Amino acid sequence: MVVSADRLPAVTYGVATSSYQIEGAVDVDGRAPSIWDTFSHTPGAVAGGETGDVACDHYHRFEEDLDLLAWLGVDSYRFSIAWPRVLPDGREVEARGLAFYDRLVDGLLARGIRPLATLYHWDLPQVLEDAGGWERREVVDAFARYARVVAEHLGDRVRDWSTLNEPWCSAFLGYDLGVHAPGVRDPRRAVAAAHHLLLAHGRASRVLRETLGAGAQVGIVLNPAPVRPASDAADDRAAVELADGLRNRVWTDPLFRAAYPDDVLAAWDPIADLATLHREGDLQEIAAPVDLLGVNYYTPLYVGARTSGHTGPAPAGPGQDHLVEVPGPAPASALGWSIDASGLFDLLTRLHTDYAVPLAVTETGGAFPDPVRDGGEVDDQDRIAYLDGHLEAFARAGEAGADLRGFYVWTLLDNFEWAEGYAPTFGIVHVDRATLRRTPKASAHWYRALLADRAGAVG
Ligand code: FCB
Repeated sequence: MVVSADRLPAVTYGVATSSYQIEGAVDVDGRAPSIWDTFSHTPGAVAGGETGDVACDHYHRFEEDLDLLAWLGVDSYRFSIAWPRVLPDGREVEARGLAFYDRLVDGLLARGIRPLATLYHWDLPQVLEDAGGWERREVVDAFARYARVVAEHLGDRVRDWSTLNEPWCSAFLGYDLGVHAPGVRDPRRAVAAAHHLLLAHGRASRVLRETLGAGAQVGIVLNPAPVRPASDAADDRAAVELADGLRNRVWTDPLFRAAYPDDVLAAWDPIADLATLHREGDLQEIAAPVDLLGVNYYTPLYVGARTSGHTGPAPAGPGQDHLVEVPGPAPASALGWSIDASGLFDLLTRLHTDYAVPLAVTETGGAFPDPVRDGGEVDDQDRIAYLDGHLEAFARAGEAGADLRGFYVWTLLDNFEWAEGYAPTFGIVHVDRATLRRTPKASAHWYRALLADRAGAVG
């Protein structure tokens, strides 16, 4: 063990999930399809043809999951609200959808667990996608209205909010690579989606603040990555800068400096009509105050230049066709993602230096082989080592001066891992796919013990 409880920063600790990945019950209580329902039911879109129809059936089993959270001893639970439960047709409020989140939030508070709610973790109502989705500017007002409905309803009990989870995935995996919903492959539309996501964040955060009043915490969750060169060749080192722009600064510069970076604009200029897309006042709206920047971190991004001989797919995101994303060094998790806790330290210290914003790690964790023994036991020492190493990097970033507020493990339950289906398991709790029985893995016992020790140490 690298991390001992007394080394951990005195911040909020928790676990994270998202609606489509765990809830199931996709046609219950008035919920309408989201883009992920449509996408997962499209042949060939998801490994094994799997869908979130059942997922972990958390919609019906949430009391049991709340008991697991209480048993773990977390301070906070990060979850997302399903837009298509709340406004299934994009207009009318569905009271039964809101009532589910009442039950969830009340159950958290009854157990002394602080909710951190994400408004959008990728489940856009299909009806809004049919009207143009993130590509069309109209979606911005639709999102702001959804934010108001939810905040008016839950804001007396939920004080910590994030607007979007990982807009990089929504825009670039969803509209450029087409490997996530809505499965579009069009760089021009991806550039438009990115801008409208940022604008939706800005408009919704103003609505959240107005609705919630003083004392609320409003933020956004990104998945920035430390970008590293495929080799020491000069072209590879030069590739890093642009890839950093299109992965990281494309979000953080508008949010915290009210400006898109010049290199990003230059890369996008041949692709999209930026003069029409980026309107007067947009950047001021995007750069609304952020109380907390959530950072989801799994692995660094390694890039090279085609000119130095690398071949293969470019990193996700329009404007970098001359770059190649290469696999990082071993060891890697079950999805082939290079394991490198130093990347988390690099990210947190860099974000602190460049933007001076309060930070939380809102997701980190790993998919591992997770062989299951009789009765559902999983002795996931590899996941414990991963989390331990990343907590140590987190502690070190705090010691180096980063303003850290929280740390959330991805994820509570083995769940629907998007285009990968159910095969990669990230949970600290095993979910038997046939019975949906939950069994805490060794990592859950480890996290629980760490949190309990810390409680003792903090006193
Ligand atoms: C992140 C997502 C989360 C989960 C993890 C593994 O990109 O936010 O939903 O799928 O990756």
